[in-house]
Amino acid sequence: MKLNWFETLLMNNPVRAFVQRRYEAPRLAKIAYRPFNDATALIIGCGRGVDVHIAFEMYQVQSVTAIDIDPAQVDRARKLLGDQYRDLLTLQVGDASAIPFADESFDLVLDFGVIHHVPDWRQAIREIHRVLSPGGQFVFEDIPGHKLYSWHYRTFTDYPRENRFELSDFRDECEAAGFVIGDHLESFFGFFRGAALKKAEAA
Ligand SMILES: C[S@@+](CC[C@H](N)C(=O)[O-])C[C@H]1O[C@@H](n2cnc3c(N)ncnc32)[C@H](O)[C@@H]1O
Repeated sequence: MKLNWFETLLMNNPVRAFVQRRYEAPRLAKIAYRPFNDATALIIGCGRGVDVHIAFEMYQVQSVTAIDIDPAQVDRARKLLGDQYRDLLTLQVGDASAIPFADESFDLVLDFGVIHHVPDWRQAIREIHRVLSPGGQFVFEDIPGHKLYSWHYRTFTDYPRENRFELSDFRDECEAAGFVIGDHLESFFGFFRGAALKKAEAA
């Protein structure tokens, strides 16, 4: 679901971009199964487009397809990114729980804090698994239910109130979808991040 006005301000500003580049992106690269160089990447919930810059500049991916459910966020990303990545970037409105691309289209899916906004988050994980090639990786950073149910999240942000997940639920769902996670998981300040590998043979 779309961000409310408060989270829109919280996410779309230079401080958030700094934190994402300086701390979050390097940690995600470190916890991944392998480097992202030359990956064909899908970014779910790309927001105002900083994720896309990170994918190209820091991760050196080959191409990016970026979706966000909110047309206003996609417009912001278009403004930020201009035409600098030309044919290497596809940017469009899209839902992580109904990803508008064919099976096995990507070898990397990036989630910078998006799945806790998706009502059917289990379906989003299945969709991510579907669009990844065998051996592809899903690299994520997200917010567990116990944090979302805290006073400040309940008061200032909008997200589906039912059926949220803890890290163990998220891991179980990834494994049920056909991913391997192993020890590529960590918690930090009550959030979590990790990487899941699509098994080479179909699950
Ligand atoms: C917390 S923001 C994170 C934005 C960006 N990834 C970042 O880290 O700055 C979550 C983003 O996910 C988008 N979003 C929410 N539900 C979505 C869905 N079902 N599919 C795709 N994008 C979604 C929102 O519009 C918003 O831009």
